[in-house]
Amino acid sequence: IPVSASKGDNVTKQSSNMPWHEGGTFLGYLENLQISIDRNLIDFRFPIQYVIRPHQDFRGYAGTIEGGEIKKGGKVVVLPSGKKSTIKSIIYNEREQKYGFNPQSVVITLKDDIDASRGDVIVYENNTPQINQEFEAMISWFSEDPMSVDRSYIIKHTTKTTRCFVSDLRYRINIDNLHRESVSQLKFNEIGRALIKTAEPIMFDSYSKNRNTGSFIIIDEFTNNTVGAGVIVSRKKADKFEIQNEKYSSKKGAVLWFTGLSGSGKSTIADKLFYFLQKNKIACERLDGDLLRDTLCKDLSFNKNDRHDNIDRAGFVANLLSKHGVIVLASFISPYREQREGLKNQIGNFIEIYVNTPLEICEKRDVKGLYKKARKGEIQNFTGISDPYEAPKNPEIKLDTIKDSIEENAQKVVRYLYDNQFLVKPEDEKNPV
Ligand code: ADX
Repeated sequence: IPVSASKGDNVTKQSSNMPWHEGGTFLGYLENLQISIDRNLIDFRFPIQYVIRPHQDFRGYAGTIEGGEIKKGGKVVVLPSGKKSTIKSIIYNEREQKYGFNPQSVVITLKDDIDASRGDVIVYENNTPQINQEFEAMISWFSEDPMSVDRSYIIKHTTKTTRCFVSDLRYRINIDNLHRESVSQLKFNEIGRALIKTAEPIMFDSYSKNRNTGSFIIIDEFTNNTVGAGVIVSRKKADKFEIQNEKYSSKKGAVLWFTGLSGSGKSTIADKLFYFLQKNKIACERLDGDLLRDTLCKDLSFNKNDRHDNIDRAGFVANLLSKHGVIVLASFISPYREQREGLKNQIGNFIEIYVNTPLEICEKRDVKGLYKKARKGEIQNFTGISDPYEAPKNPEIKLDTIKDSIEENAQKVVRYLYDNQFLVKPEDEKNPV
């Protein structure tokens, strides 16, 4: 808007000195500016960033209100657990207040002693986001390494971080003519639409409803680089009817037990296999430390006894599933040899897979930043640093993540499954994974 600061042309009144300007006045523009457009002030969303628990009698949840407003006494629900409670207090700038609204950073306390943790979301009972492990998104890719549809990445959505697959690339947008093109991967600086599948449920809104709960970033867990960013378009579309794939068939269940240090690559290789088995309609399931320690084994610590209980429970579930013909991909540090031997005796088709990545490498990768903390003494009993790891003596399979890629390691396991009649090899197959 052309204005004259000294004479006031086009500031409050349309100037006759600039008849060619038809765009209105500066003040008029400011008064009509849509400022609420980038903020959702209606739907209350509070992703928990941090649990404050200085002593037994206080439990507060710290975070940013990513949408809407909240008031004292509001009836809320914590997701994904679904536990209900009432807002007891809202603390902002160290002072209690009756209301809190987007985008304030506040501490909330609840009337009931609910166990909620980082990544959980507090919302109103009658206004909840979508909860799903699948959704569609527009992704823009930042990395020189093209996006791959069959390896796992880390997704960071609000305060939640979990593993994901970009499982189905619907199309790429040709930015010169905006046409949709069918492609098998997204390269550096390309934009496309894909289906994202996550290891844990994500509580989200579409980006058009809320910019914060409708967006995410994708991280490469090996380099720790942010390789992509996305905006959520909608929930997953209804599944298309698919004809059963008869190419591969599984004859019997098994427990593929991945053991190795934290960060050795156990879950990454297991994920790769999981994707391959799923794609081929083989009954399979994943179990890993991060998942179980958040759910079934929430009560356990990392001392020797508790690690035993953790592995016992995991082994029990894996055994049950494998008896029903499921191929179970279990990845646990499981540092004690004797304990793993116990599983071997107890589970019919137990295949011990040693992911042999040296401590220096795991520590260098330090995907979760735990090694650094362990070195500083902030985490006790940390395997490899302040707790033992007893490597298997005769594992069925030994994997090397330095010499071989994730794909090659996964291939090695698939070959073992063929050779031992857990999977039937199709005649036309070259590189399955
Ligand atoms: S196990 O020893 O009982 O088999 P599990 O595989 O379930 O361990 O869990 C390991 C994961 O817990 C690690 O990948 C890491 O993210 C986390 N963790 C937290 N504290 C420790 C610790 N003291 N030692 C090892 N892992 C830990």
